[in-house]
Amino acid sequence: MERRNLNEVAKAIKNAKLVVALTGAGISTESGIPDFRSKNGLWSKFDINEYGYIDNIIKNPEKVWEMLRILIGNLKDARPNPAHIALAEMEKLGYLHAIITQNVDSLHQKAGSKNVIELHGNFREAVCLKCRRIYPIEYALKQSIPRCECGGLLKPNAIFFGEPISKDTLIKSLGYTENCDVMLVIGTSAMVYPAAELPAMAKQNRAIIVEINKEPSMIAGIADHSFYGKAGEILPELVEEIKV
Ligand code: APR
Repeated sequence: MERRNLNEVAKAIKNAKLVVALTGAGISTESGIPDFRSKNGLWSKFDINEYGYIDNIIKNPEKVWEMLRILIGNLKDARPNPAHIALAEMEKLGYLHAIITQNVDSLHQKAGSKNVIELHGNFREAVCLKCRRIYPIEYALKQSIPRCECGGLLKPNAIFFGEPISKDTLIKSLGYTENCDVMLVIGTSAMVYPAAELPAMAKQNRAIIVEINKEPSMIAGIADHSFYGKAGEILPELVEEIKV
């Protein structure tokens, strides 16, 4: 990729008061976790209309939990890759202030990132659809149709299509988005709202938008800098430029 541009992005980050990263499933593919919409992505294997919506798990809990066990199984041995590690290092150096992630794999936290906003929740916990009680995901995995002690159905504490994002998560994400000077948009197709809206909102508030993706995403048109390649290669190079 263009080192000159990388150097320009490094300079913008060093001059910035607030730097935010918005990440998607593409940052975890080099950890062995398939993303959703690339070739062989999750939605090429499981029909999004049968597995992705909240009423899917309500109507067919056993079937949806079967897919979830595969997803959660993929996460068990997954380790942070150089992209996650680079973002954690940027935060430690004081050049990254928040990660807003759409991912539920906890790999940012495993890499050492502290300020991680999980826009779509997480797969560490299960939540009861009736009484909202939270359990460790392992409690749910032991049952074919996971149920709460109150009898309610359990689902992972992640946001399914058709579910609202928690207000405080949204308010936190909007606060960072509207006040950041640089937004790194990494490994997301930027097709799912409200996450997909955040780069345009940051841009409206004069942020520099940096797209890091294997290929042009839906925000390519508003990116000030685009780097096409593997996040696991580009981000460590960006950290090297910052440390110069
Ligand atoms: N490096 C950089 N980019 C990558 C890499 C990589 N190694 N691997 C994949 N990508 C890119 C793909 O080109 C694609 O643009 O990451 C993006 C992944 O897009 P999606 O699969 O759509 O994932 P995401 O944007 O996170 O999806 C958003 O959709 O289904 C819902 O809730 C789910 O959070 C998810 C949301």
